[in-house]
Amino acid sequence: MTALTLSTAAAAGLRADAIVIGVAKGAKGPVPAPGAEAVDKAYDGRLAGVLETLGASGAEGEVTKLPAPAGLKAPLVVAVGLGAEPEKDSSFAPETLRKAAGVAARALTGAKKAAFVLPLGDAGDVGAVAEGVLLGAYSFDTYKENNASGAKARNGKGPLAEAALLGGKPRDAAYKAALARATAVAEELNRARDLINMPPNDLNPEVFASIVQAAGKEHGLKVQVLDVKALEKGGYGGILGVGAGSASGPRLVKLSYTSSKAQKHLALVGKGITYDSGGISLKPAGHNETMKCDMSGAAAVFAAVVSAARLGLEVNVTGWLALAENMPSGSATRPGDVLRMYSGKTVEVLNTDAEGRLVLADALWAASAEKPDAIVDVATLTGAMMLALGSRTFGIMSNDDAFRTAVHEAAEEVGEPAWPMPLPEHLRKGMDSPTADIANMGERMGGGLVAGLFLREFVGEGITWAHLDIAGPAFNDGGPFGYTPKGGTGSAVRTLVRLAELVGAGDLG
Ligand code: BES
Ligand code: MN
Ligand code: ZN
Repeated sequence: MTALTLSTAAAAGLRADAIVIGVAKGAKGPVPAPGAEAVDKAYDGRLAGVLETLGASGAEGEVTKLPAPAGLKAPLVVAVGLGAEPEKDSSFAPETLRKAAGVAARALTGAKKAAFVLPLGDAGDVGAVAEGVLLGAYSFDTYKENNASGAKARNGKGPLAEAALLGGKPRDAAYKAALARATAVAEELNRARDLINMPPNDLNPEVFASIVQAAGKEHGLKVQVLDVKALEKGGYGGILGVGAGSASGPRLVKLSYTSSKAQKHLALVGKGITYDSGGISLKPAGHNETMKCDMSGAAAVFAAVVSAARLGLEVNVTGWLALAENMPSGSATRPGDVLRMYSGKTVEVLNTDAEGRLVLADALWAASAEKPDAIVDVATLTGAMMLALGSRTFGIMSNDDAFRTAVHEAAEEVGEPAWPMPLPEHLRKGMDSPTADIANMGERMGGGLVAGLFLREFVGEGITWAHLDIAGPAFNDGGPFGYTPKGGTGSAVRTLVRLAELVGAGDLG
């Protein structure tokens, strides 16, 4: 990953491959943002005009590359668009800086060192730029011949190796803390992306569990893995039922971070389907090519718990990863089968492609037994949520209106688009089963909400719970944007970390 430093060096004298400046969209054309003064001076004060000549407008996402004038040591200036100029007496929003830093970092793929002189107001802005750089520079090339460690390494264009952030205060505790927080969270988030991008022939439930075990050792976390035998003994009918068709058996992984100063306990539950073929209710071609992403919820929970540990948050955080591969075979669960779940409830499986709710149900019930102050589950649960909210926004459902609002505010604060969704009571009866206590499918309309209502049945009495359906934003099928790469995005990681901080501070749950 890109190495980050806070530097007091002057932009003009810095030896680097490039200097990154911000450019805003002014009423009459591009306006160099605060921080770019030294660069402007090197252009004899003509930077705005040069940018305009090159067709720059300052729009968000825009990258303009300029040859540097003689006064600068670096040979290249990269001007990144920041969008509209802020109102008088206010500054650029952290998310604007995060996105711009990400765009610039990606534009510098292959470069060794870049200096960033973006408009930094406070320590929070430094954290945002740091996150943007580290997340935007990400690339997944493990399986490419010409990756950094591969046979053709010299031909490979690795991510930006080093970034110096200018204009911050390297000796100020708040700035140092912001940089450290951004680094820890971005590293874990990028690791979650790696897991999501890993092909499903290499990442099965067993391998995922062993990766969690190794990380647990590294960071002093307690990891308990329930294998098939233990799941059978415990009566985890949901997880076993979904994993029944696969040659790679399912696992339930419990990952615990405890702080001696904790007053509160947050439980996080992640859907970890390492590949979702649909099972006997097989998905048609065109709907299964990216279904390796169906463990994005578990990857997000994993990253959030490790982040909490690295940040030393004063809260207990338990992650529950419900891992299974959903495959058709002679041993697979059939539509019509009834599963006896860990909670004791029975479920008639009408569609084996509605498997996420089955594994989550067991994990939610297991999490509930510890009576945490709140449970948040994260899952690529329904195509219906994508239809409702598009591919960049996740849906939030909850059994507690105030908690749902708090989760939404946390998401907004960290720059993750999210939206509250209801759990309409009338949709529950669509899941009535003539045979079992409940069916795993209901009305087609409002399918994302139906799934939320199903999960609610497996949350322990009186426990505050929220459900994040990240089916849309978990995996980016399109081109990269802002600090979001193609492929696995790490959706929900930053929201979960923020929630853990808030719960720890006693502001929530
Ligand atoms: N993993 C899918 C949901 C999904 C779809 C995630 C597209 C990401 C992108 C989930 O297991 C699923 O198949 N859901 C079904 C439920 C239905 C059968 C009730 C769906 O949404 O179609
Ligand atoms: Mn499915
Ligand atoms: Zn699925």
